[in-house]
Amino acid sequence: MQTLIIEGGHKLKGTVKISGAKNAALPLMCACLLTAEPLVLENVPELTDMQTLCDVLGSLGVVSDLSGTTLRLQAQTIHNTRASYELVSKMRASVLVLGPLLARFGHAEVSLPGGCAIGARPIDVLLDGLRALGATIELENGYVHARVNGRLKGAELYLPKPAVTGTENLMMAATLAEGTTTISNAAREPEVVDLANCLNKMGAKITGAGTSVITIEGVDALNGTTHTVMNDRIEAGTYLLMAAMAGDGIMVEGAVSGDNQALLTLMKQAGVRMDKTEKGIFVHGGNGYTAVDVTTNPYPGFATDLQAQMMAFLTQANGTSIVKETVYENRFMHVPELNRMGARLTDEGHCVRVAGNARLIGADVMATDLRASASLVMAGLIAKGTTTVHRVYHLHRGYERLTEKLTGLGARISAGNE
Ligand code: EPU
Repeated sequence: MQTLIIEGGHKLKGTVKISGAKNAALPLMCACLLTAEPLVLENVPELTDMQTLCDVLGSLGVVSDLSGTTLRLQAQTIHNTRASYELVSKMRASVLVLGPLLARFGHAEVSLPGGCAIGARPIDVLLDGLRALGATIELENGYVHARVNGRLKGAELYLPKPAVTGTENLMMAATLAEGTTTISNAAREPEVVDLANCLNKMGAKITGAGTSVITIEGVDALNGTTHTVMNDRIEAGTYLLMAAMAGDGIMVEGAVSGDNQALLTLMKQAGVRMDKTEKGIFVHGGNGYTAVDVTTNPYPGFATDLQAQMMAFLTQANGTSIVKETVYENRFMHVPELNRMGARLTDEGHCVRVAGNARLIGADVMATDLRASASLVMAGLIAKGTTTVHRVYHLHRGYERLTEKLTGLGARISAGNE
């Protein structure tokens, strides 16, 4: 199994370029199931999650062709509407095929994704929404069996939680429904907007994406299109925090400030100096930052996907910060690992007390999920001595060419084996 070996204490400098967004590319790829015509996606990141989803789509009959960062997908002949446990269990976002398959073919069977390291992550919001659109849903042998006689029917949906992939799945399903669907308390994440923009180019009639009420007027059929995937705001946020913590002047090229307002506001409060330019966001290096309290929330709140990285940054601030997680019940697995490196974090259930000015020392640490892994890399960059991050495959799911990008900034980082 691969590890990542980091020699800490080298200041980072230069430019890092942000890749296409994993969490935008995944639903966009599934949108190909809504039409027999080709869907061409540009700015697709090279990540294991993309490959996993290509395998899922391929098992259904989708033909895919990746050339650089351009991915061409065509769901002309779908010979199978069952997404198997073997594939779905590798990545829960595979459940995004359910809405499109059901809408276009009238039936789909998708393995229930099950729990994951960061929490239970049920899909009841999606299943209740599909039922309201007229589908019959049965759970049998760990699979969701979804069926509809004729077309789905537009309906007024209220989501008890603004689930992101839940909103995306229902929005895709509703594009081919008969009549109008409204989704209230919809997720407002920029990835939902990116998907709506692409679907509209495919001939869908969606308004309100990015607000909590999305309206979808169903159409008879969709066409193919070409769409550029938005830049990854979580990758950008990770590098912004890394630049503040371990940098000496870094341009985060392609970072879109509008997508990261909650983070940028807190970073400014902490005393990080940043310049917004046409190219991206330049972060002046520094130290002597001030502790700030953080609470994760659905967009436009502070992203749970940046909580671990923010915590790593706050270990270096002056004073005590409180980091509260409200989206997931179990997303503090990085806490004991960071403490092994000398951080002074106290897990108090739904929040963590971060005592600042910690002197971090290199250690062997275990990556437990994608974002937790990023926080360990950040800590390793400033720690005294060598840090070895184990189970680094988590990082390859969401950070394109991380080692290469960090080496480009002057980090001493290399891949190892165990
Ligand atoms: N929830 C429910 N019922 C549902 C759906 C969600 O109670 O039917 C709850 C979950 O239990 C959880 C919260 O809502 O507490 C988050 O929802 P979910 O697990 O459904 O998240 P998601 O939409 O599947 C996306 C991102 C995640 C990100 C979350 C929250 C994608 C592919 N994934 O997941 O990204 O954390 O939204 O912002 O878009 C990551 O990239 O590291 C990652 C985990």
